Amino acid sequence: MNPSPPIPEGPERRAALGREVTERTGLDDATIERFLRAFYGAARTDALLGPAFAGVADWERHIATLTSFWASVALMRGGYHGQPMQAHAHLGLTPAHFARWLAIFEQVARVELTEEGAAHMLERARRIARSLEMGIVPLALPAAPCRPTPAA
Ligand code: HEM
Repeated sequence: MNPSPPIPEGPERRAALGREVTERTGLDDATIERFLRAFYGAARTDALLGPAFAGVADWERHIATLTSFWASVALMRGGYHGQPMQAHAHLGLTPAHFARWLAIFEQVARVELTEEGAAHMLERARRIARSLEMGIVPLALPAAPCRPTPAA
């Protein structure tokens, strides 16, 4: 029997890949939303992260935005068009904030998701956290020795 022809790149292919992820990991919109409610419930009451979340005016909107963000990231869904880098730039986040965020994310993922679902979300969370951190935390470079400017 001939294998079915590959689906060309586009919305149909992304939908098929998303369905494959759901079958393999159990992740779907409802699971992601339930996980996020548990995650932010823990993150916003954490001693280190809590103050950074104090300015969130509308938690239902935040959960809706994040559900759409994670559905895009984890299930290849369109629909999220925000700017994560800008959203975090003014929060004064440090490497300790990112380490704590990831630790809570992992802890809650292991309780709320299947093993495959937790691994799928964690791999992406670590990658995105690293790139956010690199984008917004200033590099602590050692002071460079002063070199005299060459005479013109
Ligand atoms: C390091 C600790 C972090 C803190 C304290 C933090 C806090 C926040 C806050 C306060 C907002 C704005 C919410 C609002 O005003 O409604 C936000 C937005 C957001 N955060 Fe984080 N965040 C952290 C790390 C991360 C990481 C690692 C990710 C992704 C893996 C992430 C994904 C997002 C996204 C997608 C948004 C929405 C941006 C938009 O407006 O489109 N955050 N976060």
